[in-house]
Amino acid sequence: PPPVPDVPLTGPCNVSLADYQCLNDHHFIELGTDDGDLEGVDLGTKLGAGSYGSVFRGKLRGGEHDGLDIVAKRARDWEGRICDDNLNNTQMEDRIRHFAEIGTIARDCAGLSIKYLEVEAYMNDLVMAARPAAAAPYLGMVMLNGSRWLVWEYAGADTLEDVLVRCDELGSLAPLAKALRYDDFVEGDAGCFQNLVNILARHLVECVIMMSEAGVAHRDVKPLNMLCVGGRLLMIDFGSAASMGISGRVGYDWDKSPCDPRYAPPEQFIDERYWTKFDLYSAGLIVVRVIFRPLWCGKYFDEFSDQYHKAGYDLDRWLDAVIRSDTTLQGAGGQKRAWRLPLAFRRRGDRSDSSEREGEYIELAAKSCSLEAHAEGKLTMCSIIEGLELLSHDGEGVCWASLRGMLKEHPKDRADPRRVLDDLDASLKSAGVEIDRRCAAVDAAEVEMPSAGGG
Ligand SMILES: Nc1ncnc2c1ncn2[C@@H]1O[C@H](COP(=O)(O)OP(=O)(O)OP(=O)(O)O)[C@@H](O)[C@H]1O
Ligand SMILES: [Mg+2]
Repeated sequence: PPPVPDVPLTGPCNVSLADYQCLNDHHFIELGTDDGDLEGVDLGTKLGAGSYGSVFRGKLRGGEHDGLDIVAKRARDWEGRICDDNLNNTQMEDRIRHFAEIGTIARDCAGLSIKYLEVEAYMNDLVMAARPAAAAPYLGMVMLNGSRWLVWEYAGADTLEDVLVRCDELGSLAPLAKALRYDDFVEGDAGCFQNLVNILARHLVECVIMMSEAGVAHRDVKPLNMLCVGGRLLMIDFGSAASMGISGRVGYDWDKSPCDPRYAPPEQFIDERYWTKFDLYSAGLIVVRVIFRPLWCGKYFDEFSDQYHKAGYDLDRWLDAVIRSDTTLQGAGGQKRAWRLPLAFRRRGDRSDSSEREGEYIELAAKSCSLEAHAEGKLTMCSIIEGLELLSHDGEGVCWASLRGMLKEHPKDRADPRRVLDDLDASLKSAGVEIDRRCAAVDAAEVEMPSAGGG
């Protein structure tokens, strides 16, 4: 077996060496001149630097895409460990010469970063072939100055994370409404809030469905990895993705988990039988983030996710903890425990009282609001009252039943993404909000799949 690379395994996961070798020849797309090199890329601002690569804005020079605004991602340099994006051509050539001379282990370290890039390229190829509307327009992999780069058309400045942070700063969901082109949004109006949450949820679920139609489990669905473009969401960053819907599994190892625990489902490792449910859970957590105001802020969402994990990935248990730690409620009327824990907390497991429990959440939240002024941003029952009210309506769209369906602990019990989408569409239609469907209404089996390549 090949030696184990000794680079820190903190970045994108789940690539096997065999996968890499079979991928290596397959999805290299040349953008530029005859010798396979781009004529030029003018690199601009650095947009990010992960453990395995760097991402830049830029402009293409020469070739058929001359002048195009792009985003380009390269693997960490050929030595795998030392990151330096300021090499000139001669330095890069020296480095490549060095790479040719160094031993196998050192070369494998470099290879690991490149492998991730190859897997990302492959996933982009799959999505571009089957569901191009789901992701940022991918142009291909190119060689430049001896390095491999993946190149996308620059699709827009805002990630969903940027938009949520703006909402937090403004104390209003207006930036989200604007990003999703919901022009009739009025801050503070419960109906508008509900419509906006349903619009966001249907875009999220649609992305999840389109990924699965392309045979891809993204595995890193989170606001930072979604661009808001033209009123829709586009997926980016396929560095953790795995192709699951086709015969050749790429980027998938059964015993490796995804990278961002904050949005990952409780199973952590993808369940091959229900792989399409993995990303749906992450989408459900994004919905949770939007309906509960304090969580718009990334820092509070991080705290939420710690508490949520401690609560066993169970929203009701998490709410029980919020109730217990709501100091306003504890001091109510000067008595100890002027409030009662929800019935379901006392009689856990009895499914029949869930509507009673939901009613109690709102009662407690209203009590928390009536008692005293609340510290800004602090997580109390009062601070999430709008979200609790939104969840408590019966019927279609985002509500307790549908959210619990998306966040079921076991992937096999989790809702069917298409059903969730149908339900959201029905709800929006009855509210007079109509959005074109990007994913097929047909059975996934009818979607023509690209070939799995050498896998
Ligand atoms: N096609 C695109 N158009 C516009 N911006 C993009 C595009 N692709 C990526 N970006 C921006 O670059 C950032 C990093 O891209 P990406 O998520 O693919 O890389 P990453 O490996 O996660 O890097 P990092 O670890 O720094 O986030 C994104 O968060 C986004 O802001
Ligand atoms: Mg990213």
